[in-house]
Amino acid sequence: MATSRLRVLWSRLGRRYQQLILLLVVVTAACVLSQAWWISRVTSALLPPYPQGQDLRHYRRDRNLKRYLDNIQLLIEPSSSHHSCEGTEEVPLLVLVSSAPSNLDSRQAIRQTWARHVPTFFVMGLDGPDVDEKLVDIYIEAKQYGDMLVYDFADNYQNLTLKTALMLEWSSRRCPQAQALFKTDDDVFVNPWMLGKVVKEHVNSQLIGYKINNSLVHRDEYTKWYLPRWLYPDEVIPEYLSGTGYIINGEYIERILKAAYKVPLINLEDVYLTHIVAKRSLHLTLSHDRRLSPYKPWIRSACSYWSLATAHSLSPDEVISAWSSILPLIKQFKNGDDVCNLFRFLSSYMFLY
Ligand SMILES: *[C@@H]1O[C@H](CO)[C@@H](O)[C@H](O)[C@H]1NC(C)=O
Ligand SMILES: *[C@@H]1O[C@H](CO)[C@@H](O)[C@H](O)[C@H]1NC(C)=O
Repeated sequence: MATSRLRVLWSRLGRRYQQLILLLVVVTAACVLSQAWWISRVTSALLPPYPQGQDLRHYRRDRNLKRYLDNIQLLIEPSSSHHSCEGTEEVPLLVLVSSAPSNLDSRQAIRQTWARHVPTFFVMGLDGPDVDEKLVDIYIEAKQYGDMLVYDFADNYQNLTLKTALMLEWSSRRCPQAQALFKTDDDVFVNPWMLGKVVKEHVNSQLIGYKINNSLVHRDEYTKWYLPRWLYPDEVIPEYLSGTGYIINGEYIERILKAAYKVPLINLEDVYLTHIVAKRSLHLTLSHDRRLSPYKPWIRSACSYWSLATAHSLSPDEVISAWSSILPLIKQFKNGDDVCNLFRFLSSYMFLY
């Protein structure tokens, strides 16, 4: 009965309305599908890449950051000729990239692309079975590029907090004129122009990044983000800035480091430094900026890379191709017009990036 009534109604509508309704149905379906796809991508990016039980036993013995740092030696430092911090000039933005000895391809991709436009150094540890062999390669690389900071500690995920603290220590000691420090990873694509814009727009902010609110703590030992109860008893992290890339105002770098010396360490560097130290113990403000994105845009157009300051999880080849896609936009940017305005307008509705 109902279907036959519908059929009668449908035939009365006339051709133009029928077409309009069909079009609406198709557009709605496309929107729903694309949103569902986006959500599934984002959630799968949050799942652990592979199971890896974590060795956190050293935090049972000692959680004093200062003691750890005092026992870690700086093996290689940037050569002064490459070193924009050596002079007396102002450094508006210093970039420190968390890397690892084996990620040479990532470093090369970054060196030939975005790092040419902003003072950038790579920070890594060095330890493990074939250290001597690695050390030779690393020395050669460091001599050639002069952009590496190498420390003698075990470079693994559990020790990331130490690596980030070493970045703060080095920049407050060796580059005190930096007005801002940007901490990021070697699988991140950076758009230096947008990053500069973000820094300028936030001159009075304390820490800027992609703010994650009320996230649940991972208690499953086999995730990368495992945080045991004995290191962090609460079930929720009220707010922190994603470690893929955050900016610290130069005035606060040393203050954050000094405060961290009084706060017991945990294994997740972003939660530790931005939430526990900066937010909870220093009461600093964490400013959210979605352009410091911890995701990979799912439409890989020039405009999506151009509209962001960072994009995460890119292979070295993807970094290079993203870079060549945004190069033509720079000239227009310098002339003051932004060809990506319409793209941004539409995508802010559809979560396109
Ligand atoms: C780094 O991590 C390992 C555990 O995987 C630990 O044994 C070591 O003491 C940590 N710290 C340093 C400074 O290497
Ligand atoms: C977290 O909260 C802030 C407001 O405090 C908001 O601006 C921001 O969009 C939130 N973060 C995310 C990822 O939604």
